[in-house]
Amino acid sequence: MNDQLTIALSKGRIYKDTLPLLEAAGIEPLEDPSKSRKLIIPTKQDNVRLLIVRATDAPTYVAHGAADIGVAGKDVLMEAPSDNLFELLDLHIAKCKLMVAGPENEKPHGHRLKIATKYIKSAQAYYAEKGEQVDLIKLYGSMEIAPLIDLADRIVDLVDTGNTLRANGLVPMEHIADISSRLIVNQHAYKTKFDQINNIIQQFKTVIEKEN
Ligand code: ADP
Ligand code: PRP
Ligand code: MG
Repeated sequence: MNDQLTIALSKGRIYKDTLPLLEAAGIEPLEDPSKSRKLIIPTKQDNVRLLIVRATDAPTYVAHGAADIGVAGKDVLMEAPSDNLFELLDLHIAKCKLMVAGPENEKPHGHRLKIATKYIKSAQAYYAEKGEQVDLIKLYGSMEIAPLIDLADRIVDLVDTGNTLRANGLVPMEHIADISSRLIVNQHAYKTKFDQINNIIQQFKTVIEKEN
């Protein structure tokens, strides 16, 4: 039970929403990543540390075994290779929806739809399933701008309250997937550190079951 355990998390909503779960598992960070510039955060358990990574990088750290476990949004996992990792638990945090959105008063299109998104794989799969040919334009953020300046007709992006769409004169059009964050585990670490990881999963589960 004394193996070093490394947990990959992104700061922001995932960190904030994972904190109560970590606490239930007896893991208390010694610094707050929203205040500290430190990217490797020790915890009160001296064999457990947190890596503060970009949300899209968490699966990479875990897949390569640089972190044993991590938390990543389903949207991110759908875009990332799934080799070497298990998705073991729905944490029911950072919930939102992956949707198609576009201008409220959409002009008729005389061409293939142009879709701006950072979710190329998900968008491709969605339109392939519908049998619709579209042109995808990769962006890394602020997708909502694209239809406003005719870079694209529509976007595929995350929607929670709908405030960002509304603020930019866009409306949700089609639901692609419900999104929440997942606990991911390196496949090798799951074998070699089974007791330690399984104990964390059980503690997380007690909180999740109470709250959902
Ligand atoms: P990033 O800097 O990559 O955008 P975020 O902290 O915003 O990181 O997002 C991390 C994860 O949280 C996303 O992968 C997604 O699963 C979820 N998420 C993103 N935006 C929202 C939102 N507005 N409401 C709820 N969950 C969200
Ligand atoms: C996310 C997402 C949407 C917005 C949706 O952005 O990319 O733009 O939230 O949420 P809403 O429906 O409640 O408005 P985020 O706040 O993470 O900003 P980001 O551009 O830094 O990722
Ligand atoms: Mg974001």
